Amino acid sequence: MGAEPVNVNEFEKLARQALPKMFYDHYRGGAEDQHTLKENVEAFQRIMIRPRILDVSRIDLSTTVLGYKISAPIMIAPTARHKLAHPQGEVATARAAASCNTIMVLSYMSTCTIEEVASSCNAVLFFQIYMYKRRDITAKLVQRAETCGYKAIVLTVDTPRLGRREADIKNKMIAPQLKNFEGLISTEVSSDDGSNVEAFVRNSFDASLSWKDIGWLRSITKLPLLIKGVVTHEDALKAIEVGVDGIIVSNHGGRQLDYAPATISVLEEVVDAVKGKVPVLFDGGIRRGTDVFKALALGAQAVLIGRPAVYGLAAKGEDGVKRVIEMLKDELENTMAFSGCPTLKDISRNHVRTQHDIL
Ligand code: FNR
Repeated sequence: MGAEPVNVNEFEKLARQALPKMFYDHYRGGAEDQHTLKENVEAFQRIMIRPRILDVSRIDLSTTVLGYKISAPIMIAPTARHKLAHPQGEVATARAAASCNTIMVLSYMSTCTIEEVASSCNAVLFFQIYMYKRRDITAKLVQRAETCGYKAIVLTVDTPRLGRREADIKNKMIAPQLKNFEGLISTEVSSDDGSNVEAFVRNSFDASLSWKDIGWLRSITKLPLLIKGVVTHEDALKAIEVGVDGIIVSNHGGRQLDYAPATISVLEEVVDAVKGKVPVLFDGGIRRGTDVFKALALGAQAVLIGRPAVYGLAAKGEDGVKRVIEMLKDELENTMAFSGCPTLKDISRNHVRTQHDIL
């Protein structure tokens, strides 16, 4: 192998070499023309940083999310089926989160069990779910997560059905191993659909999910409830009305509705509507520390990374995930030093210039 990767994009190249084409395409791909997938990254490139000059001899990246102290505002987003990327699956990812002292959100479609991941490390873990047609399954999953110490529930709301991911369709992506994973969370729901993701989603997820149902979920758990997949101020306000404890601005990494706006272009709209009532987290297109800085300047409390963590995992297992997080932390630290921001609180709206500011 050549030189060691020095940034996230180079980790992606290593992941591409390490993975069977079908799995790499699955991880990388977006919906239809992949316009939103590209925009998530490119919209960051249209935002410039306004560096200020100040004492930056000591820089502190630490912050808290829902009261949990983390070493930097970079968390791991829920992504499905880590064992397709690495034999240790989500256990490796969670251990990397623990050693970087950050939070991992475990996907409902984890290939290690909720319990296994919890007992493998001391990371702060959140658990992500969808609303199943069968509410007893949703309730049981929440209860399992509560019992083994997960600190929050993340309800993803942008998936009434699966986005049209054409690479998966062409490759006939069926995740063949899934049926053999005894611990697969979805085996509580699924029968023979376990290997066909589209059929699984169609048969199991509740497309009639409404704000009332979110109120129900709120009522069955004492854990904080975050809602993931909000991209408008209207939905942000509704979410607050039903009592969520946090909002994740996300378009599922461009895998659901193509031509949904880049998440960084709508972050401020959501932040302005929320008015500090609950924390606003962000994901979509983070590939550099400068991206993290820009999202914080536009009001995110922290960001989550989806593909970058999976690329790290595919390329180098637990160590790869760790190195991806460390790289982003180093780059963020550098950006703060160049921008006169010794702490995250010093990063302000004034530190970025968006296209909107120019018009
Ligand atoms: C995802 N995402 C996702 N989201 C979720 O709520 N539950 C899930 O199971 C998954 N699974 C999943 C698999 C893969 C392969 C990807 C790439 C993404 C979406 C994820 O949480 C996050 O919103 C995006 O990945 C963020 O964009 P970036 O960081 O990948 O650009």
